[in-house]
Amino acid sequence: MEQSHVHTAPLPCGEQGLQKKHQCASVPCEGRTSQFDARTEARRGSFNKKTMQIIDGKATAAQIKAEIKAEVEAIVAQGGRAPHLAAVLVGHDGGSETYVRNKVLACEACGFQSTLLAFEDTITEEELLAVVDKLNKDEAIDGFIVQLPLPRHIDEQKVTEAILPEKDVDGFHPVNVGRMSIGLPAFISATPLGILTLLQRYNIETRGKKVAILGRSNIVGKPMSMLMMQKQYGDSTVTVLHSHSQNLAEECRQADILIAAIGSPAFVTADMVKPGAVVIDVGINRDENGKLCGDVDYAAIEPKASVITPVPGGVGPMTITMLLENTVRAVE
Ligand code: GUN
Repeated sequence: MEQSHVHTAPLPCGEQGLQKKHQCASVPCEGRTSQFDARTEARRGSFNKKTMQIIDGKATAAQIKAEIKAEVEAIVAQGGRAPHLAAVLVGHDGGSETYVRNKVLACEACGFQSTLLAFEDTITEEELLAVVDKLNKDEAIDGFIVQLPLPRHIDEQKVTEAILPEKDVDGFHPVNVGRMSIGLPAFISATPLGILTLLQRYNIETRGKKVAILGRSNIVGKPMSMLMMQKQYGDSTVTVLHSHSQNLAEECRQADILIAAIGSPAFVTADMVKPGAVVIDVGINRDENGKLCGDVDYAAIEPKASVITPVPGGVGPMTITMLLENTVRAVE
């Protein structure tokens, strides 16, 4: 097994460990994500005056990272150990390499310890499962991720299910997905948790609202639908739309909150949006000129929506931050 690179960020404290509980992050109706601070209050005021609000995912992510950093400093000041996230990277996919590097950098910026385990794509499934087993047993690691996609000769589901649920800070393990769907404390995958956090922090009313979700992926559409119908923050009436849905445009038009995670540039056009709707764009696509764009025709929809997320700068910046959030919860 070739391990091409191991990186461990310096630990900013002694090895004195916190008592680790098998407790995961809860659906964020409690804790940091629902603590409305002065800045959130200020935003609330400005919403009432304005008719249109652009959600600033970059600023929100920066604020949460500052909160996480302060929390880590407090843990360390009390004699605890900084959270330790490990990331497993297989092969040399450019996107994955960048993504994992950014995760490691974000860890370091928040005072975490981080370990990157990088392997050539010749690693066998058995060898990778042995790496997962080792990380499961390593008490110095609070949580870890195996960056996807994996090479075709490796069964991603098998690898995902080999990760201990209490270390699965990606929230991909069926135990975490199942617990989240019945409202139990669980790690929630980063993109849905990021969207939920943005909606909460921007004081978006969800109770009794009609939510349409475009896309039914295991990572975004399905968990998002579960979160939006929970009795905690959520309480919405949820419709999930996909490639075989009938009357898709009409269903979207009825939505008070429209979440587009379909992976198709400018799929959502202005005629599909109810005036005053909240529009959340999860898409990360390239248009014909190679420019980053979402699933929503932003220029046409921005004047019609009451709240909208831009691409870039909306949902995207929240995802790595939510991974850090899960890792802090993994220590607790
Ligand atoms: N590949 C793309 N997004 C993700 C993610 O959030 N987690 C993992 N493990 N792999 C990914």
